Amino acid sequence: MANLPAYLFLLLIFLLASLAEANNPRTVTNIYLVRMKLGSHGYVSRPGHHALLSEVLDEERAVADAHIYSYTESFTGFAARLTETERQKLERRREVLSVSPSRDFVLHTTRSWDFVNLPLKGTRRADKESDMVVAVLDTGIWPHSEVFNDKGMSPAPPGWDNKCNDKICNKKIIGARSYYTGKWPLAEKKSVIDLNGHGTHVASIVAGRETEDASFYGLAKGTLRGGVPNARIAVYKICWKVYKSENPTTPPVSECPEHDTLAAIDDAIKDKVDMISYSQGSTYPIPLLEDNVAWAFLKATGKGIMTSASAGNNGLSGSYTVTNGAPWILTVAASYTDRKFKTLLELQGGKRITSMNTINPFDTQKSLYPLVEETFDRSARRCELIQFREGPAFSDHMNDEGKDVFFNLLNPRQVEKLLEEKAKGLIINATNMGQKCQFPLPCVCLNEKQASTLHKYVKEYSKHLVKIHKTKDSIAPSHNGPRTAALSSMGPNRDKILENVLKPDIAAPGVDILAGWSKEAKLNPGFPEDNRVLDFNIMTGTSMACPHATAVALYLKSFNPGWSPAAIKSALMTTSTYMNRTLSGNEFRYGAGNLNATNVLNPGLVYDSQPDDYKDFLCMQGYNIERLKSHFGNKTIDCSKKNRTTDQLGDYINYPTMSTNVKINTPFKLVFYRTVTNVGCVSCIYNVEKNVSKGFKVIVEPETLRFSYLNEKKQFTVTVIGRSTPMSETSENFLMPETWITWSDGKHFVRSPIVVYSIHKEYEG
Ligand SMILES: *[C@@H]1O[C@H](CO)[C@@H](O)[C@H](O)[C@H]1NC(C)=O
Ligand SMILES: *[C@@H]1O[C@H](CO)[C@@H](O)[C@H](O)[C@H]1NC(C)=O
Ligand SMILES: *[C@@H]1O[C@H](CO)[C@@H](O)[C@H](O)[C@H]1NC(C)=O
Ligand SMILES: *[C@@H]1O[C@H](CO)[C@@H](O)[C@H](O)[C@H]1NC(C)=O
Ligand SMILES: *[C@@H]1O[C@H](CO)[C@@H](O)[C@H](O)[C@H]1NC(C)=O
Repeated sequence: MANLPAYLFLLLIFLLASLAEANNPRTVTNIYLVRMKLGSHGYVSRPGHHALLSEVLDEERAVADAHIYSYTESFTGFAARLTETERQKLERRREVLSVSPSRDFVLHTTRSWDFVNLPLKGTRRADKESDMVVAVLDTGIWPHSEVFNDKGMSPAPPGWDNKCNDKICNKKIIGARSYYTGKWPLAEKKSVIDLNGHGTHVASIVAGRETEDASFYGLAKGTLRGGVPNARIAVYKICWKVYKSENPTTPPVSECPEHDTLAAIDDAIKDKVDMISYSQGSTYPIPLLEDNVAWAFLKATGKGIMTSASAGNNGLSGSYTVTNGAPWILTVAASYTDRKFKTLLELQGGKRITSMNTINPFDTQKSLYPLVEETFDRSARRCELIQFREGPAFSDHMNDEGKDVFFNLLNPRQVEKLLEEKAKGLIINATNMGQKCQFPLPCVCLNEKQASTLHKYVKEYSKHLVKIHKTKDSIAPSHNGPRTAALSSMGPNRDKILENVLKPDIAAPGVDILAGWSKEAKLNPGFPEDNRVLDFNIMTGTSMACPHATAVALYLKSFNPGWSPAAIKSALMTTSTYMNRTLSGNEFRYGAGNLNATNVLNPGLVYDSQPDDYKDFLCMQGYNIERLKSHFGNKTIDCSKKNRTTDQLGDYINYPTMSTNVKINTPFKLVFYRTVTNVGCVSCIYNVEKNVSKGFKVIVEPETLRFSYLNEKKQFTVTVIGRSTPMSETSENFLMPETWITWSDGKHFVRSPIVVYSIHKEYEG
């Protein structure tokens, strides 16, 4: 969405910032994360960090001004404001592993629950569910929403007092704290109140209470509720509206500073929450080495806290776009639900165009209105005004009042103009928007074919009259199975270390999700002119998919409080619904399949992992030992037994999916080593079923697993043999045809896709 202008804007800021720095190298500071070695130096915890800072700070600077956070759980080290010379001095210290600038992350912006088969009245352990606390790291919360009422709820679990800023908590929202020490001026008061809407939306998807008659101006009407309506919400506000420009007319943007995010994770770990839901991240993948949030999530995993994160909304840029892709995180892609939205554009003469691409909550226009078509003709004065937006307002004779206006491209400023001029409506040629259009005035978004139909109509008739209808929604189950959203970021993992971990892990509803909204937030964040206020909103993105997965994970945990994060993740993945390649791209869009709660309580077998297994995996990848000690916060980490000379290279995690990158146009023979834990029945026999295409061979040894007690573990190997022949004569890509194995005792079906690939960065399959 609006990537280009934002990008240019960032570049400009960057240039301005570096200019300022060049002018003033001694006083300009930036925020850095200082990663410390674990070891026998004295520079640990806050006093030690202060001491270290006092040794490197420029003469005129005080330690208290420079020091921001000392972390204890999420990060081995501290955050500080440093000048360039101070940074260099710190970097040279023996005790310091790295000094990296704190990044700014972005938000990865109801029936969906029945759709994944988690009905309200189904099997539920309300009492156990209410022991569960989910940490929502986001834009805060709108506590006055009906979806967060605490009627009939028991008091908060022990240890949950004094964790609430702004006195907004109740028995539903039991924690609410805010974190901001970023470098940009805040465009909102420092509080936990959600002025964006995103955090409220996400929190209500996970754990909102049953709310009748929820709708978006009559659309998607029904009873709204979160996936685990009895669970408690702990809010950690890390994303803020900030001014990143000196120009006061530039609207604020939402940013989530990395060092504040780490402080929130630090607290969430100390608070012993059950799960962390994280609908943010970088726009483009960052190397694992530099991904401090991923390392913080590893620490959380070590404490039994599962982390669920959005895959990102960059799928239109093709392969290698997935973010939050570390193996200990549940990485969630976005899929469609079975709700369809149809919007009619009626043309004079009776012709109708039906858009499936629009959410227009405004009433059907009272009559046919004249249509103005905007063109790209650079000589047209109007076009100039649109292109060079600094010009004066449109002159009167070009006023759009009372007309429906057709645009080929659109930016928010044009919408403001249309509102100002009282245009009746807006029609857009919206090819590749990646999500449905929603605007603060009546609108229809057309695909290319429909746009050309309209264009022809304009050419044919002298008087152009059109009418935009209100959107109608309906439930229409897809006969072809679930489908992922094009905007959902794609694997493989860009980081070489993680290339054999299939990501994303799973797809979950993320398109057109109705959920709670903040009454202090814009309904349509792009448009300052839009003054509508509502308790609900329809949003799309992996941001909305992530909390769906979080909630099903919590639901499962309420039945099995002792399960490890990896076991819970395995259950979600192996019981997910098969997604087919023709409809949904391939596994790099959806991982194991589509989230489905139907069988999640009975996975049969799970692929479990402990933090030590992640350590072994990283050792095998030749990871620096000092770094590993720092990442794990554990001095006794030892890689000598798990190094590159050992076999099983690149496949050491007991992962529920199996994936390997191979050389193009070469024969391969790969072995995956796996262990399953029996969580289903006391005594049972599992046989393997395989789906393999001609030309490839999959050998599973043994083919039968006999279990005689609960929690018994059995090992097996999967050998895959084939050749990575390019997919066409002109292609340099290889993706093995759909392959999977399923363990089954006749009642449970434990499915793992096998993805062998050789994919160039340009591939967009
Ligand atoms: C969930 O699983 C059930 C049973 O296998 C199936 O009928 C249903 O269509 C699935 N739903 C989704 C959204 O995949
Ligand atoms: C709609 O947009 C597409 C792609 O941007 C373009 O090729 C096409 O000409 C446009 N159609 C009309 C009618 O302007
Ligand atoms: C540190 O790592 C060792 C070896 O992996 C492990 O046995 C030990 O339990 C870890 N200690 C802590 C406190 O996590
Ligand atoms: C690699 O592992 C082998 C076998 O455990 C061990 O003998 C060797 O010292 C290790 N090498 C390194 C560089 O750690
Ligand atoms: C494998 O899956 C494909 C695609 O769904 C299907 O057509 C085929 O019958 C399956 N083969 C086996 C052996 O199950």
